[in-house]
Amino acid sequence: MYRIALLPGDGIGTEIIPEAVKALQAIGDKFGHEFEFNQALIGGAAYDATGQPLPPGTLSLCRDSDAILLGAIGGPQWDNLPVHLRPEIGGLLPLRKELGLFANLRPCLLYSGLAQASTLKEEVINGVDLMVIRELTGGLYFGAKSREATPDGGQKATDVLTYSTFEIERIVRFAYGTARKRRHRLCSVDKANVLESSRLWRETVTELAKEYPDVETSHMYVDNCSMQLIRNPRQFDVIVTENMFGDILTDEASMLTGSIGMLPSASIGGQVGLYEPSHGSAPDIAGQSKANPLATILSAAMMLRYSFNLEAEAIMIEQAVHQVIEDGYRTPDLMETGKKLVNTVQMGEMVKENIEKQCIEG
Ligand code: IPM
Ligand code: MG
Repeated sequence: MYRIALLPGDGIGTEIIPEAVKALQAIGDKFGHEFEFNQALIGGAAYDATGQPLPPGTLSLCRDSDAILLGAIGGPQWDNLPVHLRPEIGGLLPLRKELGLFANLRPCLLYSGLAQASTLKEEVINGVDLMVIRELTGGLYFGAKSREATPDGGQKATDVLTYSTFEIERIVRFAYGTARKRRHRLCSVDKANVLESSRLWRETVTELAKEYPDVETSHMYVDNCSMQLIRNPRQFDVIVTENMFGDILTDEASMLTGSIGMLPSASIGGQVGLYEPSHGSAPDIAGQSKANPLATILSAAMMLRYSFNLEAEAIMIEQAVHQVIEDGYRTPDLMETGKKLVNTVQMGEMVKENIEKQCIEG
């Protein structure tokens, strides 16, 4: 039996999680696995109910589970809370840190049929298949933050950016391991022409590269990388980068998949893995059944793969998503003329039914 903590969170989070649960249940029925789901609050919803964005009960449920599926957190109604109570800084970031989830995997794969949904030209994005590995528990996100008054009546704000050799080695080794299972190419992204932390990053990667002669290592400045991602994304296999650069580059890279609604993520490295779509809580469309549940459903597939080692089951979910897209079903973010518009629930049902129809191979 697999115990899964469900943290729907805020906004569209509460709409997309049930759709991923349907896919997991269909997989459970098909393969004879038992998934036990336990739900808890996080983010703004948790703050409203308990006064804390990460209540202790939520954290202990996560620790006691085999994996966590999270929707999204945040919304304008919580933006002006004291900083430690905000859904991001008080909820999601401490969850990642407490669980030691230093490796964030964001696979950008263009499902055929979605090239036209992207704002980018088809000839540029056709065949894209890259993986961004983002360091998730260090850097600016977790450095000291402060404010001071200045004599001119203004203020001074500080965010500290720190990386240690240990933290860099840990994520870069992980990225090399991933590159070895893919096309053996690793691009390390930094800003070593300006930042000291990036100079240590680059030196560390250069040292480690000697241990992985079978992997082609390259270095790229983050500004150049953001341009190369839309100029010629097929040049990339695995990208490894620090926390903040990874945050920014993966939103950009999501457009290579057609929509940010297609980009799943896995955060691993600790005892329990956390799986969540890369997108946010989308307050503007929350409660309208317009959200694309596919990034969350694909995150559930990543859970099967990385936390439970259930590869055939993961592939079955990915196949189902692929087929539903092939069949022309689209949520509003992916809609184009000639396709069939569906809402969040309908999209989830289509994926579920597709799983039910598939045969177990082998
Ligand atoms: C992400 C999100 C989070 C991040 C926010 C919600 C704190 O943008 O997972 O990419 O910046 O890490
Ligand atoms: Mg982000």
